[in-house]
Amino acid sequence: MKISVIGTGYVGLVTGVSLSEIGHHVTCIDVNQDKVAKMQQGISPIYEPGLSEMMTKNINENRLSFTTDHRQGLKHSDVIYIAVGTPENHDGSADMSYVIQAARDIAENIQQNVIVVTKSTVPVGTNDMIKQTIQSHMAANLQMEVVSNPEFLKEGSAIHDSFHGDRIVIGAESEYASNVIEQINQPFGVPIFKTDIKSAEMIKYASNAFLATKISFINEISNICELLGANIENVSTGMGLDQRIGSQFLKAGIGYGGSCFPKDTKALIQIAGNVEYEFELLKGVVNVNKKQQGILIGKLNDCLPILTGKRIAVLGLAFKPNTDDMRESASIRVTEELIKQGAHVIAYDPIAMGNAKSILNPLVEYADSIEEAIADSEAALILTDWDEIKNIELALFKTMKKPLVIDGRNCFSLEAVESNGIEYHSIGRPVATKVIEAAPI
Ligand code: UDX
Repeated sequence: MKISVIGTGYVGLVTGVSLSEIGHHVTCIDVNQDKVAKMQQGISPIYEPGLSEMMTKNINENRLSFTTDHRQGLKHSDVIYIAVGTPENHDGSADMSYVIQAARDIAENIQQNVIVVTKSTVPVGTNDMIKQTIQSHMAANLQMEVVSNPEFLKEGSAIHDSFHGDRIVIGAESEYASNVIEQINQPFGVPIFKTDIKSAEMIKYASNAFLATKISFINEISNICELLGANIENVSTGMGLDQRIGSQFLKAGIGYGGSCFPKDTKALIQIAGNVEYEFELLKGVVNVNKKQQGILIGKLNDCLPILTGKRIAVLGLAFKPNTDDMRESASIRVTEELIKQGAHVIAYDPIAMGNAKSILNPLVEYADSIEEAIADSEAALILTDWDEIKNIELALFKTMKKPLVIDGRNCFSLEAVESNGIEYHSIGRPVATKVIEAAPI
């Protein structure tokens, strides 16, 4: 099978590289010349564990190539994946312009019958539109079919997920197309679920909306736990033991970020609205998340009402660990608010500082280590649960002006911080304060 992948963002690049790893010949196409030049040398434009190594291996074994030339990249393909971005429009709907352009590029450049597979997250009904666009722009009289094959990869473990996912969803209009895509994917060894196109498109949105709902739900429970004196970690564990609920995605924190949940939840609200259905529950999920992203500032202001001129350390900037992705990260909002209140912000992230510098307020300063960020600070805010942060010696916080830690990811046990004499505010748990030893009489 000769496969082409249009778009080399997270989804496209990981898809192309994984397909080459299981033996297919894959050409990845992207309009960005610098990016393509780097990828041809095996340099990944994104930080994703294992990706560069797998790219280099498959380039060297002549199964994987990169080009900016659509004609070259598409002319001998049997199967073409569309994996371009669907960014958020101002009204929350998905911007389809890159998808439409990809469909036109396919129509203008194919020279044989093809199956077009949509990997991009697209509103229900988009595959029909892609088919019409290709058919109406096609020069030659060729056969083509569309297949919906949404991705469920998590950033930071995308390569691992490709080979160990829970399911591969294939939505097709004919058994032939469905079987071809099934055969392509079989070597991954992941269970395959075959269905119709619209249901496949909906599975992607419904899955992400459901996971986002779990997160907003547990975040609300954590806020109530704080008011009642319960401990969210114990509550999540106790709930998760019920197999109907499941233990995953019940970690309370400062809300979800990233390229998928924020965008896809708003898009699904729009999709429902387009057919005159008000998705009330999901609107609540989005609002709760907005509120939760700002919760640490409130906790900080309770301890330090005036931040003007105060040195505040921010530990972790990426929207989650093991990625350099800053999209929709709570750090954007938190650092902006700290600067607005006049604080002197010193940030540290193991991987995402390069990206952060082009996104965060230019007044944010960056430290080379956790130690440097917290030294002499009046408070440390933890925004991402990187292992490097979770594994620090808690005694290090004593180098702060006052050891005040406000943790948005519950990185430490209350016992550990108490025995280290740190004032520690976290999510959904009682405040831990310094244990004062009674003075000898
Ligand atoms: C998500 C989906 O998991 C994936 O299937 C889909 O294809 C793309 O979107 P991703 O955005 O990479 O993947 O990250 P994920 O690990 O799901 O986390 C998303 C956000 O939710 C992060 O900000 C994370 O910190 C937060 N989260 C996750 C919680 O706050 N609590 C949890 O229990 C789980």
